Amino acid sequence: MGGMGAVCLILVIGAAVCLAACPCSDPALCDPIQHSRDSEVYVFHVRGKNWKRYDWSKVTTVALFAPYDPELMCFAHSKGARFVLQGDVPLKEIVDPKQRSAWIAGMVNLAKTQYMDGINLDIEQSVLPHTPEYYALTDLVNETTETFHREIPGSQVTFDVAWNPNCVAMRCYNYSAIAELSDFLFVMSYDEPPPSWNKCIAGANAAFNQTITGYQQFIKMGIDPKKLVMGVPWYGYDYVCLNLTKGNQCELGKCPFQWASYSDAVSNQVGYKTIMNQVNSSLTGRLWDDVQKAALFNYKDTEGKIHQVWYDDPESITLKATYVKKLGLRGIGMWHGDLLDYSDDPVAQEQTKAMWKVLTP
Ligand SMILES: *[C@@H]1O[C@H](CO)[C@@H](O)[C@H](O)[C@H]1NC(C)=O
Ligand SMILES: *[C@@H]1O[C@H](CO)[C@@H](O)[C@H](O)[C@H]1NC(C)=O
Ligand SMILES: *[C@@H]1O[C@H](CO)[C@@H](O)[C@H](O)[C@H]1NC(C)=O
Ligand SMILES: *[C@@H]1O[C@H](CO)[C@@H](O)[C@H](O)[C@H]1NC(C)=O
Ligand SMILES: *[C@@H]1O[C@H](CO)[C@@H](O)[C@H](O)[C@H]1NC(C)=O
Repeated sequence: MGGMGAVCLILVIGAAVCLAACPCSDPALCDPIQHSRDSEVYVFHVRGKNWKRYDWSKVTTVALFAPYDPELMCFAHSKGARFVLQGDVPLKEIVDPKQRSAWIAGMVNLAKTQYMDGINLDIEQSVLPHTPEYYALTDLVNETTETFHREIPGSQVTFDVAWNPNCVAMRCYNYSAIAELSDFLFVMSYDEPPPSWNKCIAGANAAFNQTITGYQQFIKMGIDPKKLVMGVPWYGYDYVCLNLTKGNQCELGKCPFQWASYSDAVSNQVGYKTIMNQVNSSLTGRLWDDVQKAALFNYKDTEGKIHQVWYDDPESITLKATYVKKLGLRGIGMWHGDLLDYSDDPVAQEQTKAMWKVLTP
């Protein structure tokens, strides 16, 4: 957060001084991105410096979920990509309109002092219908969009939603209003529940049919497909199997329940890089589940326990990405950009290239 601290210190002296300090070699790179896009490749940047190795021929927006990096801002702008803030606030703190305005003003100021192009509202909080928080959330989106668009011309305000609009994890939001009032929704098509609740077995993070059904439901409620960006996972889940059945079903020790973050209780998230380093030495090698349309393998840990890892790879992502066109969606993106292997290893380079390539079939 060093860069941000410095900017705020200057702000005390005067905003003009602060805004004059463009960190880019070409001051024009501090201008907000103005052009509009027909399609998006939306990247969450979470850590490190590997962003230099993203496929910038595709990237349209980078959402900053890491400390501010002025070098990344200049670089994204040099590629014509938007660079946006993360926005999260406890909803009980923005029910009051004055507090809400103050929060929005703070975010706009931060975006301006960092020469950024908008905000990604990542409010993953439970809300019951028709509560004060329910209405406040819709107002927050409306007012955030209105303020950013006015204060930073060309800026983009987006909102992250779960994989379907049916109160997933008790997120009962006014989805159609939020879609209407923001630039678009980023649909987090991952952390989906297993195919069958009563069987309690490991399954895909983002099963194909379930994923597509989620988009059909958003569209059916009247949301313009151009307001939806498909989010795909560049990570999977590693389950510890209590028992592995003859049909290669990994039975889980604990049965997850619907509105807890189902997967966290019995499994660990693993990035694509880690998965690729494991798969060839696993017990099974890469297997393909043709019902869920996802990849998996089994391995044995040092204590002798059997694990099953479910993940997305170029084959599963290709199937979903073709639906971006079929359904007329705004684009695609991933959680998150820093989970691939960006090293110089030739095998890793091929795998990383393939993951970027399949985003836009
Ligand atoms: C959004 O805010 C504007 C004022 O900025 C207001 O006129 C409008 O009714 C609001 N829309 C919704 C759907 O709340
Ligand atoms: C959602 O918000 C819109 C716009 O504010 C409103 O007209 C509609 O009644 C709301 N729907 C629900 C279910 O609250
Ligand atoms: C998902 O499965 C249902 C029921 O089998 C089927 O009707 C539907 O066409 C499938 N959707 C896709 C996108 O394949
Ligand atoms: C484990 O799986 C095997 C093979 O499917 C089955 O015969 C056995 O009953 C299972 N054990 C338990 C404790 O569920
Ligand atoms: C793992 O196996 C695949 C398929 O056989 C191969 O293409 C890849 O290079 C192997 N990965 C490593 C790290 O050796």
